Amino acid sequence: MKGIVLAGGTGSRLHPVTLGVSKQLVPVYDKPMIYYPLSLLMLAGIRDVLVITTPHDVDLFRRLLGDGSDLGMSFSYATQPQPNGIAEALVIGADHVAGEPVCLVLGDNLFYGHGLQERLKDAAALTEGCVLFGYTVKDPRQYGVAEIDDDHRIVSIEEKPAHPKSSLAVTGLYFYDGSVVEVARNLRPSARGELEITDVNMWYVDRGLARLHPLGRGTAWLDTGTHDALLEASTFVQVLEHRQGELIACLEEIAWRMGFIDADQLERLARRLGGSSYGAHVLRIAAEARA
Ligand code: TTP
Repeated sequence: MKGIVLAGGTGSRLHPVTLGVSKQLVPVYDKPMIYYPLSLLMLAGIRDVLVITTPHDVDLFRRLLGDGSDLGMSFSYATQPQPNGIAEALVIGADHVAGEPVCLVLGDNLFYGHGLQERLKDAAALTEGCVLFGYTVKDPRQYGVAEIDDDHRIVSIEEKPAHPKSSLAVTGLYFYDGSVVEVARNLRPSARGELEITDVNMWYVDRGLARLHPLGRGTAWLDTGTHDALLEASTFVQVLEHRQGELIACLEEIAWRMGFIDADQLERLARRLGGSSYGAHVLRIAAEARA
C-alpha cells in the first residue's frame, strides 16, 4: 500500500504563525506536526510515502525528512499550488499511487490510543472499497458526519450538516483501493470550489463498499487548527510523554520497532539528533536495541 500525507493549505486560523512557515512544520510539543500522521503510516507498515505541500514549503519538508532512506522509508514530494480540496491529493499523487491501494492522511491530524496499530494494519490490508475512521465529537456540525449500520458499513456521509444524523465525525485518515485515483479524477468542484473528499467517499458508499471504524473514547483524535487547540495538543503529548517516559510519534523508534532499520542505524540517527530530549530518548532506545 502507498501513503500520501497532505500538508498544504493556508493554516489561516494559525496566522501569523503560519505566515512564515507551514502549519504542518509547527511543533506539537517536541516534534514537527507532520511526524504524527507520518508515524501512523509507518505503524500501518506503509513505507512509500508522498508528501504534498505548497510550492513555497516543499523545500523545508525535504530538508526535514529527506528521501526517507535513513528511516528505511521512501519519501517523495509534490506540490499543491492552491488548496483546491483534499481529494486533489489523489489526483496530484496519481503517478505515486500507480493503481495500488493507498492511505491518505492529513498532515495536521494527530491520533493516539490503545489498539490503534492493529486497526491501522487491518485497514492497510484492504483490497476493495474504502475504510475510514470515525470519532465521536461534541459538535458534529463542523465535520463530515457518517451514519453506519451494525456491520460498520457507511449508510450516509453529510458534510457539515445542520441536523447531524450521528455524532461520528469522519477523521482525516482514509484507506482506499486502487480505483480511487479515477474516482477523484472524475470529480467536479463543489459549490465552494474544492474537490471534496466526501464526494470520493460517497462514491464508495453508493456502491456499498465503504466502512467506517469508530475510534472509541480510549483514543484521542486531536485538533491542531487553532492556537488553543495547538497548545492543548502539545500539552496532551507533554503530559503523556512525561508520565510514561515514552515518546508519541518518534519516527526513528518506530522505524526500528517495525524492522525498517537495525540497531546500528538507530544509534547513528540518535547521535545526529544531538542534545535534545527527543535525541536522548532515541539514544536510550538504541541502547535497549543493542542489549
Ligand atoms: P483545513 O483545516 O481545511 O485548512 P488549513 O489547514 O489550511 O487551515 P485553516 O482552516 O486555518 O485555513 O485543512 C485540513 C488539512 O488538509 C490541513 O492539513 C491542510 C490540508 N489541506 C490541503 O493540504 N489542501 C487542501 O486543498 C485542503 C482543503 C486542505
